[in-house]
Amino acid sequence: MKYKIRMAVESDAKAVHDIYGAYVPLDYVTFTVDNPDIESYRQKIKNTLEKYPFLVAEAENGEILGYTYGSPLRPHDAYQWNVEWTIMLSPNAPRRCGIATSLYNEFASILEKQGYRYIYGVLVDTNAASLELHKSLGFIEVGLFENAGYKLNEWRGIRWLVKQIGAADDEPKKPLRLSEVRFAEKFIEPNG
Ligand SMILES: CC(C)(COP(=O)(O)OP(=O)(O)OC[C@H]1O[C@@H](n2cnc3c(N)ncnc32)[C@H](O)[C@@H]1OP(=O)(O)O)[C@@H](O)C(=O)NCCC(=O)NCCS
Repeated sequence: MKYKIRMAVESDAKAVHDIYGAYVPLDYVTFTVDNPDIESYRQKIKNTLEKYPFLVAEAENGEILGYTYGSPLRPHDAYQWNVEWTIMLSPNAPRRCGIATSLYNEFASILEKQGYRYIYGVLVDTNAASLELHKSLGFIEVGLFENAGYKLNEWRGIRWLVKQIGAADDEPKKPLRLSEVRFAEKFIEPNG
């Protein structure tokens, strides 16, 4: 199945809502317990695109196979060169054929152009697929917080992983806004 990677638009909110919502009631891959409404996702896409990429993988038939976006690691100014990374594939999307890797590669390339320095992944300690994905992309595990969340009648820990994408200069420039860097849609032939 060929697909393209493009920047999300506000009208992707329903697809993003539905993909995320498929995991919310069933799984610890997200610690969210109640899926926000579609309008919240519309706002999230709009707000994210001011500072970070929000990308979708779209099949030739228009189905959204997955999405990825960045968010601030912490709210304080001095953390502004760090980005927390989120990635979700649709439950219907084929696995292990590189969709997440393709999304990540575009995501990281844009962040690097913007001048960000570190990408963080935060994942539940039972998410072996995500852990292996992060490692395959060069992330290094830097922390394990035991019993960080309670969901589905279980306490679960989280792992933190990090990847450096730019030099940690003494005086970094403020990251560029997303609109200040160029991005062209990519058409991908899956490798699986
Ligand atoms: C985790 C997830 C994003 C991986 O997407 P994907 O498109 O299948 O990943 P890729 O094909 O790019 O995999 C790249 C590499 O990651 C590792 N990997 C991915 N899934 C794996 C799995 N289930 N088991 C072991 N390794 C895995 C492998 O090293 C893989 O390379 P390989 O297939 O050549 O061995 C996807 O399974 C998903 O969306 N899961 C549900 C939501 C989720 O967990 N999101 C992350 C929250 S932190």
